[in-house]
Amino acid sequence: MTTSVTVKHEIKDLTLAPLGKKRIAWAGREMPVLRQIRERFAQEKPLQGIRIAACCHVTTETANLALTLQAGGADALLIASNPLSTQDDVAASLVVDYGIPVFAIKGEDNATYHRHVEVALDHHPHIIIDDGGDVTTALVRHRSHQVSEIIGTTEETTTGLVRLRAMLAAGVLTFPAIAVNDAETKHFFDNRYGTGQSTIDAIMRATNILLAGKVIVVAGYGWCGKGVALRARGLGANVIVTEVVPVRALEAVMDGFRVMPMLEAAKVGDVFITVTGNKHVIRREHMEVMKDGAIICNSGHFDIEIDLVALQQMSKDVQTVRPFVQEYILADKSLIVLGEGRLVNLAAAEGHPASVMDMSFANQALAAEYLVKNKGKLAPGVLPVPQDIDQEIARLKLQAMGIAIDSMTPEQIAYVNSWTEGT
Ligand code: ADE
Repeated sequence: MTTSVTVKHEIKDLTLAPLGKKRIAWAGREMPVLRQIRERFAQEKPLQGIRIAACCHVTTETANLALTLQAGGADALLIASNPLSTQDDVAASLVVDYGIPVFAIKGEDNATYHRHVEVALDHHPHIIIDDGGDVTTALVRHRSHQVSEIIGTTEETTTGLVRLRAMLAAGVLTFPAIAVNDAETKHFFDNRYGTGQSTIDAIMRATNILLAGKVIVVAGYGWCGKGVALRARGLGANVIVTEVVPVRALEAVMDGFRVMPMLEAAKVGDVFITVTGNKHVIRREHMEVMKDGAIICNSGHFDIEIDLVALQQMSKDVQTVRPFVQEYILADKSLIVLGEGRLVNLAAAEGHPASVMDMSFANQALAAEYLVKNKGKLAPGVLPVPQDIDQEIARLKLQAMGIAIDSMTPEQIAYVNSWTEGT
């Protein structure tokens, strides 16, 4: 089998392909919206001749996106968007069974990761599908001669959009970038219910601890933080939220959570989960006052939310006690870090369930089609996913779930469009 593989790749082990193929199909069962798009793409070929470099977590769900892009006629290449999130069997199957070039190995070092970013740009993409903005950043930084080849980029995460908006402010974003994360069918579901479930799933898989009765500190009450706090409470944990944005803090209070500064929460927490998108949210002063055995993990995009350099300096020794579980031994206590401070839901579990990625990746596929259809007509900058695409994805998802909803009567349509009717 493996000797006949000619497609370019750098993955762990081609012999893992049969398992990956089965798991890709399993995820596909929960992705009915993307499946419908794939069937249409196979007929219409809207991406014919388009080179796409996708920098995503290489999971069963991403594989279904890659197959959709391929069905649409795209020449798609996939790299990992995080050194620890790759599912090696999926990477193998994409190469062996579907002829899609993949450059991703779970546990790859940072140098390999960045080399793969260059491989993505060596593909000379017309479209970049980014998750975190690394390929787009590299393009703007040192491949500016390739910018003229770009039709546009699409961005999956909050963190990537923060970077794109900073690029725009600095005057270096000179092409359209579609904010997939900001689509309602993306962040209402993927960020909230996906991160909520997969983060708790990862903590349970990695540690097998009982969450009922634990004090769980959730840092950040954006869409991801809301989901994590909600699910932690659902399992019987006593949840504390920390925030820097007053309105979000207020929202957490009125959602029934305790809110306090991290320095206070640090003294009482059993499990700490960062989901802020910011750096050094848990730092030396916090770790100094944490209890013996406190567990710390991150579900934000980058591994910067926990100051691991400080923790290393505070520690006499570090031991791996279970897969994805490291015990830092300090003079007076141990602190436990999961998944090396990388996004724990993808490092120690399988990321968001397929049913939410169905909508996120439907947005990605349709955003790519939209970029191609509107080539040369879109303004440079960060642009929303068109509302009709967002609404259509919700409609298709409901339909696939067998859920019917009401529609407005002609009288109601006239009412919501008029200003003359009042008291
Ligand atoms: N981001 C979070 N979960 C994911 C998944 N399952 N696949 C791809 N990207 C993800």
